[in-house]
Amino acid sequence: MTTTEREETPEMRSTEQIIGRSDVNDLEAILSFIGKQDESGKHNVVDNCEAEFTWDYEKGRLQKLDKLYEKAKGAQWNGNTDLPWHIEVDQEAVVMENFATHPEQMGWNDDMLEGTSLAKWSEKEWLQFGVENQNWTLSQFMHGEQGALLCTAKIVETVPWIDAKYYAATQVVDEARHVEVFSRYLDTKMSGHYPLNGHLGLLLDDIIADSRWDMTYLGMQIMVEGLALAAFGFMHQLTQEPLLKQLLRYVMADEARHVAFGVLSLQELYSELSASEMRERQEFAFEAAVRMRDRLRSQEVWDRMGVPWNDVMTLMGRQDPNQDDFQILLFSKIVPNLRKLGLLDAADGWLREKFTEMGVIAFEHLSDSTEDEDAFADGSPVSRQVA
Ligand SMILES: [Fe+2]
Ligand SMILES: [Fe+2]
Repeated sequence: MTTTEREETPEMRSTEQIIGRSDVNDLEAILSFIGKQDESGKHNVVDNCEAEFTWDYEKGRLQKLDKLYEKAKGAQWNGNTDLPWHIEVDQEAVVMENFATHPEQMGWNDDMLEGTSLAKWSEKEWLQFGVENQNWTLSQFMHGEQGALLCTAKIVETVPWIDAKYYAATQVVDEARHVEVFSRYLDTKMSGHYPLNGHLGLLLDDIIADSRWDMTYLGMQIMVEGLALAAFGFMHQLTQEPLLKQLLRYVMADEARHVAFGVLSLQELYSELSASEMRERQEFAFEAAVRMRDRLRSQEVWDRMGVPWNDVMTLMGRQDPNQDDFQILLFSKIVPNLRKLGLLDAADGWLREKFTEMGVIAFEHLSDSTEDEDAFADGSPVSRQVA
């Protein structure tokens, strides 16, 4: 496509219009947005989609989705009875062990801490920081799972094909179970809850509010669940706590199917969209990628720990997200999946450019999720996903 044609694309929006700021890396904007619970205790979003009936009941017309549906029915587990809930968890001991076995996970060295209040922290403060981070991480998993529950219920209503409605119905049950087990783990094994992270909240709201049914898939199945799968894998590898390890393994087996569901459902549709329609999807994927990256700054933990604002800015300024292995790893699933959907190179390669700037384009040739929908279902090592 030539430059002239690109200028003629009417839907083009600026970075500011897409994410609310012109500089993707504007630290002050990223850090100052802290998630708080609505005072009403509720959070309502208007869901703009029409529910669609289909009169074509022929099962198996979409063969791959039908196969996934059959597989999902056989892969159900019971969060109440299939996990060793009797195991007692000493959270501080778990945090200490994580520090001892994976000191690099703290992500800080003396040079980075110099001149900030963290340089004076004793073991007590670092331990509290570790505990708060764990409470925060599991809280975000739990809230994200509720987002997946609502989004997938919406897909049951809006997707036009019966095979996809059937499969999505199994995913609704999966997500209910995920909310249930993360919530129970937090309540009975951890030491506190956090509200939904502000950036993740913006994304979940946008996904639910969008009137185009495929955007639910793109936002949830491809972006949020793609990142979640990598994040669960990361924590699974890190933790030695047997209950959480098993819980994550079961959840990951489900999530591998969910991401495959997204790719299989959108693949054909996206091969028929025009450049400007693809550009809208690219912008949405870009917005989601930025929000997911911004949420990893764990703003709510700094706030709760009472670290002075200047110190937070200094510390975060010394972290380079493009060099942070954990943040980069989180894109290991979504970039190959977006490539498979044709979203990297459509509309003059707009998204390829954006991901190159974000330092995550190198992941494009890793396996996509249609190749590993069975991951974790057979006891295969987690390193297969996250290495
Ligand atoms: Fe889930
Ligand atoms: Fe899921």
